[in-house]
Amino acid sequence: MPTNRQIILDTVPTDKLTPGHFRQSEGPMPSPADGELLLKTRIVSIDAAARAWMQGPTYRPAVLAGDVMAGYGLAEVVESRSPAFRPGDLVFVETGWQDYSVQPASAATKAGSAEPLSHLISIYGVAGLTAYFGLLECGQPKAGETVLVSAAAGAVGSIVGQIAKIKGCRAVGIAGGADKCAILTDELSYDAAVDYKAFGEDLRSLGRAVAEACGGGANVYFDNVGGSMFDVAMFCMANQGRVVCCGSLASYDGPRRGVMTVPGLVVVKRLTLKGFIVTDYYGGRDAAVAELKGWVESGQLKVREDVIDGLENLPDALIGLLAGGNIGKRMVKVA
Ligand SMILES: NC(=O)c1ccc[n+]([C@@H]2O[C@H](COP(=O)([O-])OP(=O)(O)OC[C@H]3O[C@@H](n4cnc5c(N)ncnc54)[C@H](OP(=O)(O)O)[C@@H]3O)[C@@H](O)[C@H]2O)c1
Repeated sequence: MPTNRQIILDTVPTDKLTPGHFRQSEGPMPSPADGELLLKTRIVSIDAAARAWMQGPTYRPAVLAGDVMAGYGLAEVVESRSPAFRPGDLVFVETGWQDYSVQPASAATKAGSAEPLSHLISIYGVAGLTAYFGLLECGQPKAGETVLVSAAAGAVGSIVGQIAKIKGCRAVGIAGGADKCAILTDELSYDAAVDYKAFGEDLRSLGRAVAEACGGGANVYFDNVGGSMFDVAMFCMANQGRVVCCGSLASYDGPRRGVMTVPGLVVVKRLTLKGFIVTDYYGGRDAAVAELKGWVESGQLKVREDVIDGLENLPDALIGLLAGGNIGKRMVKVA
């Protein structure tokens, strides 16, 4: 009889997330009822937003103390009580941080296949689709324009810049560290990269460096970070620019903050801000995956992945990602 290891959120953090907020336990082997699936977790996606889920409800319910830590990923159907799935099918689903789970068949989406399998989580999964729809549908970039991207070496950012280049734009990335910046320009098609960590708290100098890298101003800002980086980016925008509000990494790992005000530069520069959740665009998912596949197979788009082995390493994988330890899409291979 297999065991079901689970990582539990033991206490809800009020400041930085640490390994002490989690504990590992052994849960019962779940059993599916009619319309449900017994699933074996294969790969868990590590998402910075998982830290935000601990702060309260977002686009999903909050994760509470005592819950199996939430997480999305790729699972294999072990037993199906639904005619729509068969044992062996691979599905996208909320696996949670555990070896096995039972989910309603209606919550699972067939994942198809890819070589390597990890691409189903990175380029053909949420990261790739967020970059694709966020940039193309919300940012509406035109050839010759400049696209500025924060957290540019992360899962989403590493793809946004490359799509911008494929569309004939100039791509400027902001990332933490000289090594990440070198990868952006040497491997991931970015025209220029700015290491924000080199400027410490000196946001004025950072703003000048980003503005210089953007040349005549950024027409699109793909915002993964929020916080003070948002202010820096506003300083670098061209008039009539578009801001794609994708996420706010700066506010996930720490105490909850107050309400953000819209900076005056949004008004002065007549900017348009567009927020989105990737699932809003899932009607176009198959076509998007087909186009991404074409770019990957032709070598126009490179996929960076950061794969860690072992369920027991999930807490450190998330904590490390929040500290900037990843390049490209981080995930944990469970089985
Ligand atoms: N709207 C949607 O539907 C949707 C879907 C998926 C993801 N998202 C959002 O998209 C954003 C990017 O996600 P992702 O999966 O690409 O992230 P990721 O790969 O998990 O990126 C993590 C990176 O963010 C940077 N970072 C962390 N804290 C930061 C801070 N305080 N300030 C600046 N940079 C920080 C770090 O890189 P550095 O070393 O460069 O600091 C870290 O390596 C997130 O905000 C996420 O929530 C949105």
